[in-house]
Amino acid sequence: MDNIFDLVADGLADKSYAIIDNFLTPTEVSKILELPHFSEHEKFFKKAGIGKRTDLQINEAIRGDYILWLDKNTAPPAAQVYLNRLNELVQYLNRSLFLSLKDYEVHMTVYPVGTYYKRHLDQFKKDDHRKLSVICYLNNDWKEEQGGQLRIYTENESLDVLPLAGRLVCFRSDVLEHEVLPATRQRLSLTGWILDQAII
Ligand code: OGA
Ligand code: MN
Repeated sequence: MDNIFDLVADGLADKSYAIIDNFLTPTEVSKILELPHFSEHEKFFKKAGIGKRTDLQINEAIRGDYILWLDKNTAPPAAQVYLNRLNELVQYLNRSLFLSLKDYEVHMTVYPVGTYYKRHLDQFKKDDHRKLSVICYLNNDWKEEQGGQLRIYTENESLDVLPLAGRLVCFRSDVLEHEVLPATRQRLSLTGWILDQAII
């Protein structure tokens, strides 16, 4: 795994983002997809909002995804594999980039057909503890013509990332604006943030 973690560290140091394939193996992805949470997501997931707690708003015009937060203590084993790997990544980034990252939070995410998330920054206005955004995609055989790209806006250009199964995207939450383009197919992922403060 250290090879993969090293690629994340290099990407972050060089350009504030990294795109890493095979962060999860095909078998690990299949086990997550088999969870009832994803297969019956209408039962478990809630419409995602914008902002935090008292500022939380639901706005379909801005984002159309459905989410379910994972609890580190009760997450099913298939999801725990991913949470443990993120935990290792956090330790690795602290050592290699001299960061002081403390914790991470992850939700399971479903974008139904046609939904999107408009251009935004992940750091909240009143809370800057989200330092890195980390998204792992779970979509086998995703084709470019199906849409659903993550579009990352760098200083001079933009770059489109396909949500391919096992692929991890990690970027600085405070600097990189990004958006999710609509797709002709349901789009699944694990979406999370690495924080410089422990979650209470
Ligand atoms: C988000 C987000 C990107 C993606 O949930 O904040 O930008 O590719 N997700 O799913
Ligand atoms: Mn985002």
